[in-house]
Amino acid sequence: MRVIIEPDYEALSKWAANYVANRILAAKPTPEKPFVLGCPTGSSPLGLYRNLIDMYTAGKLSFQNVVTFNMDEYVNLPEDHPESYHSFMWNNFFSHIDIKPENVHILNGNAHDLIAECNHYEEMIAEAGGVDLFMGGIGPDGHLAFNEPGSSLSSRTRIKTLTTDTIHANSRFFNGDLSLVPKQALTVGIGTVMDAKEVLLVCSGHNKARALKHCIDGDISHKWTSSMLQMHPHAIVVCDEAACDELTVGTYKYYLDKERGNL
Ligand code: GLP
Repeated sequence: MRVIIEPDYEALSKWAANYVANRILAAKPTPEKPFVLGCPTGSSPLGLYRNLIDMYTAGKLSFQNVVTFNMDEYVNLPEDHPESYHSFMWNNFFSHIDIKPENVHILNGNAHDLIAECNHYEEMIAEAGGVDLFMGGIGPDGHLAFNEPGSSLSSRTRIKTLTTDTIHANSRFFNGDLSLVPKQALTVGIGTVMDAKEVLLVCSGHNKARALKHCIDGDISHKWTSSMLQMHPHAIVVCDEAACDELTVGTYKYYLDKERGNL
């Protein structure tokens, strides 16, 4: 695992966006062989998306030959609800770049048959040749996508019941009203993310310090599902200083020294 420690949110977002842009550019994607990008929601990737939009606006990057698969979506929340992940993605990213709408894939949490929807999603990812780069955030309880504590570390796309912790955390998007937060979501599994050729997580702020500790500095456990990335051959976690508050000094220094070339 590679861990990048940047001073603050702005710097980590820039680092992550540059990395993603360079991977897309290096792949020289074509309509026949597009670049497949996994996309998260949440506040963590907002800066990353803003930087990618800036690169597109400056003519440095195109998404014409990029195919996306989002990580998750709430169940039974209308697609046009302002807090649906469909709305989030179009408002914060897709509407500002040249991606083809037919290349965007987001799970349908209102599908008549949710299990069939999840299975079909896995098939579409496989048909696209797998995900080249899965971007992600980390929940305060260490979850990746909506793979809540206790999720199977080999899970695939499925329906997941949200934990009380997540319902509380996400109530900030629903006027703080717990009763308005959907109780279930469709989410790619940990196994789905692990199949990606590369995974890039962004993690910012003191409230993520415990999750980051368990993700990179603890044992692999279904209690902290992002810790499974320790088994991924090409995983990168980009974090800021505040998120490092609970790392051991040895771990913190090791990753800083490694990136500075002092080791
Ligand atoms: C939600 C999303 C996750 C995201 C997490 C953290 O639960 N399903 O993919 O990583 O929130 O969000 P934030 O970045 O806003 O803290």
